[in-house]
Amino acid sequence: MPMSSYKKGIILAGGTGSRLYPETRTVSKQLLPVFDKPMIHYPLTTLILAGIHEILIISTPNHLGSFEHLLGDGHDLGISLQYAAQVTPDGLPEAYVIGRRFIGSDNVVMVLGDNIFYGPHFEQQLATATSRRSGGTIFVKTIEDANRYGVLELDPEGRPLSLEEKPAKPKSNLAVTGIYFFDNRVLDIAADLTPSARGETEIVDVIRHYLDLGELCVEQLDSECAWLDAGTHESLTLAARSIEEAQRQDGIKIGCPEQAALTMGFIAEKHREAGGSGAT
Ligand code: G1P
Repeated sequence: MPMSSYKKGIILAGGTGSRLYPETRTVSKQLLPVFDKPMIHYPLTTLILAGIHEILIISTPNHLGSFEHLLGDGHDLGISLQYAAQVTPDGLPEAYVIGRRFIGSDNVVMVLGDNIFYGPHFEQQLATATSRRSGGTIFVKTIEDANRYGVLELDPEGRPLSLEEKPAKPKSNLAVTGIYFFDNRVLDIAADLTPSARGETEIVDVIRHYLDLGELCVEQLDSECAWLDAGTHESLTLAARSIEEAQRQDGIKIGCPEQAALTMGFIAEKHREAGGSGAT
């Protein structure tokens, strides 16, 4: 496996979840079950599979305590979990402002708390992204309704050309998924953004910055890789069904942080560090 240049990760689990009212008036969207486990277990598993040991979970002040209750300090998984509040939902890039001290001088991968990924080649693509020392990497997927997401246009040679957030007329069917790998310059880029017409700073503006620098890499998820976002009643139901089906068909657990921690050797590592036998 190539050397990783990433050790810090952020899960952004904020927002009002208004598209999932009434449940989300009292419960955080990212704590709702997706089939047999809370939604946040999926992005947490993704970060562990990316080899990330230090993770900051950002949520609303109301819900932060529930995440901490669920996940604790992470030592059972051989990782370190910290928590921080996003007081108002001012945009995804605000996570880099809130997480500035946590990130320090490192690179950082951010995954949105409602994004679920699984597929046979996904882990290899994560390793490719974390092996890049500088610049940014985004993950895109060909879908039919790209207008619901950030949309990436490629030039005839397959290089990234333009980006738009939820365009009425998308220039391609490549949706930008909710996992972002950036080098440390993202801290200053995010701090300098101005809010868009909808009053929030936009992650596509951060990505565009790397595109303009000529330092944006793109990983395309293949047709065997599922990407589910669970932000509406329809997509949440669909995600739960897909997970149930895939787990039954393949006899595996998807979105299982403990399993991922074992696979990555995090738990064995923890035992070794503690002077244990290394048994898991
Ligand atoms: C956000 C981003 C969008 C991205 C999507 C992925 O949108 O703004 O670019 O494609 O996440 O889930 P949101 O779902 O917050 O509207």
